[in-house]
Amino acid sequence: MSPSPRAEQPTSDKPLLRVLAGERLNPPPFWLMRQAGRYLPEYRALRATAGTFLDLCLTPDLATEVTLQPIRRYGMDAAILFSDILVVPLGLGQAVSFEEGRGPVLEPLRDAGELSLLQLDGMRETLAPIYQTVRQVVAALPAPVTMIGFAGAPWTVASYMVEGGSSREFAIAKRWANEDIEGFQRLIDLLVEATVEHLSAQVEAGAEALQIFDSWANAWAAEKNSSSLRRWCLEPCQRIITKLKARHPQVPIILFPRAVGPHVALFAKESGASALSLDDGVPLAWARSTLQPMLPLQGNLPPRILVEGGPALAAQTKLILSELGQGPFVFNLGHGILPETPLEHVAELAALIREGLPA
Ligand code: CP3
Repeated sequence: MSPSPRAEQPTSDKPLLRVLAGERLNPPPFWLMRQAGRYLPEYRALRATAGTFLDLCLTPDLATEVTLQPIRRYGMDAAILFSDILVVPLGLGQAVSFEEGRGPVLEPLRDAGELSLLQLDGMRETLAPIYQTVRQVVAALPAPVTMIGFAGAPWTVASYMVEGGSSREFAIAKRWANEDIEGFQRLIDLLVEATVEHLSAQVEAGAEALQIFDSWANAWAAEKNSSSLRRWCLEPCQRIITKLKARHPQVPIILFPRAVGPHVALFAKESGASALSLDDGVPLAWARSTLQPMLPLQGNLPPRILVEGGPALAAQTKLILSELGQGPFVFNLGHGILPETPLEHVAELAALIREGLPA
């Protein structure tokens, strides 16, 4: 007998997807933000032969290989696509490059008059090799491993587009946002559309979960009044999530509103995300009592403690497991893994997580 087309999808047996659907697992699934990258000798070796960082991102065979490297070594429960949040401005037609020792360099966009230089039309074509990478990774992954697609949140991506690269203060982007609210809103609106398209294309290619990185949401979090944080971070993410849920209701979305302090509760209540990824500034007991009843959590080992290793690593990992492991929880870092992280410490962390909590 064939199943009725209305029959519910069987619950996935992939640990990450089970937790994102609200189940508690002991031990919890884990993956690490920026798990593919410079701390891995096999990454550095391949990177040295690949030309530029963007060449690596846009060459499916190489990007597939790099995506799989950490999984082979440590058996994470998820593979995150090897790409970058700045491929969206590239797809919109902005000049983007990554220079050795300098990080990203973009031809800066300085006012609303320059928005006509950006074009959503050709983005899927320019970024087609990335969607091909998703297909190849999905075909190669071990059965229990979940494929995660990702994008930057509009504010975080806009900050690079306007500043022309990495920034600490975001002075130029904040001045534009404060002095020409409507013009800056048009940039954010374009990024909402572009992000929905880019994430949908990843889902169509086989991504099973998505993460949105609002790594620089902290830029608006110091104001007592949360109106700028709402306008530039929460609302654009809400709109992206609503549109994606309409197109792909089965695909869970993890949101990472980094370093927004207690405002993270706003994102738990109002963003519509399936789960929140917490930075290491979020107190564990508060996260457990206030956030976890609302949605599954991911996080939040400080990347520095993974560099340090030893008793500090064991103690903090056990503390996180005992506080957050009682509910739906994905073990991760509080921000990306640092390039100087010793390989043995990652192995040690994986073993500690797999021990789980005493029954
Ligand atoms: O393993 C993974 O997590 C997948 C790949 C990934 C990269 N960047 C690869 C990368 C992901 C998810 C990102 C996200 C990203 N990129 C963010 C959000 C997450 C965060 O860390 O806050 C941001 C802000 C960027 C922008 C970016 N990309 C910067 C500022 C830099 C330069 C600084 C640095 O870390 O080198 C990059 C370059 C980059 N993206 C590298 C990698 C592996 C290093 C490039 C190299 O190999 O030379």
